[in-house]
Amino acid sequence: MDSKEVKLESLEPKKFIEEQVKAISSSVVDGVAINALSGGVDSSAVTMLGHRALGNRLKTYFIENGLMRKDEAQRIASLFKELGVAVHILDARKEFFGALKGLTDPEEKREAITQTFYKDVFGKLVREIGAKYLLQGTNYTDVEETVAGVKRQHNILEQLGIDTQKEFGYKVIEPIIQLRKSGVRKLAESLGLPEELYNRPPFPGPALATRIIGEVTPERTEIVRSATKIVEEELSNTGAFQYLAILHQDRVTGIREGKRDFGLQIEVRCWESKDALKGSPTRLSFDILERLSQRITTEVTGVVSVTYNITKKPPSTIEAV
Ligand code: XMP
Repeated sequence: MDSKEVKLESLEPKKFIEEQVKAISSSVVDGVAINALSGGVDSSAVTMLGHRALGNRLKTYFIENGLMRKDEAQRIASLFKELGVAVHILDARKEFFGALKGLTDPEEKREAITQTFYKDVFGKLVREIGAKYLLQGTNYTDVEETVAGVKRQHNILEQLGIDTQKEFGYKVIEPIIQLRKSGVRKLAESLGLPEELYNRPPFPGPALATRIIGEVTPERTEIVRSATKIVEEELSNTGAFQYLAILHQDRVTGIREGKRDFGLQIEVRCWESKDALKGSPTRLSFDILERLSQRITTEVTGVVSVTYNITKKPPSTIEAV
């Protein structure tokens, strides 16, 4: 697989699509391939490429891991239905929360999600439907950050020396590995995806787990999910690169209904960035910050403190875990 970077300036989407469709068709000569669609621009673009190359021989699954945003599975499945792509929703909440139980170390949490996804959930699915290939939306930045040792991106396997054929029983095909996010957006537009998909802010593979400091439980995920909904509603018109809510582990003293409440802390981050490699916080107006704080402390049970991150990346990263 060619993994030399194709820069945005030199990307010719139509030609790139043609080449990748050809490459997928010649790799998956017969039988079926499988892919997981999360609704992010990377997996959405790969779904369309795979669909063009293989038609019904590509089986697309939305893995409901319990860590996604509110109503995400149904929303994405219906968007793709309109594009003629059937998306199967697989409920794997029990497997993911089971694997995450008791874990607090960031890299252990990522590893648990990786193993649950590739080995347990996908491994089983692949055996059931007899797929020999997994199409995956790994991009150039994912590889770069993992190889540089910044953070282990959960979709990186081969570059870490993992033989997927041997370990999980299938081969991985990565059609957009030469592109950065801006290139993937251009490609996705050319593939006919709607703007709400190709211009979507990035969302990490391990989903809301990257925004929960400490143990990832269904209850704690629900808190960050509610805060995320508010942050997305309030900040979607800022044009920022990415905006998110983080649930902290430490509690702080607050006051609720005139009484002391040792409550939860939510941190909001909103990023200006081109490719997620570097970032700086958006200079949000105080009115917006106040509205965020007001809504999160009243609408999300137990939250008594909302903070805004003013640190650049580096030394911060975009996500918290
Ligand atoms: P960080 O937090 O490393 O994030 O500054 C850089 C960009 O990548 C996204 N991100 C991930 N995406 N799997 C993914 O698919 C991951 O494990 C992961 N971690 C972070 C993040 O949202 C940001 O856009």
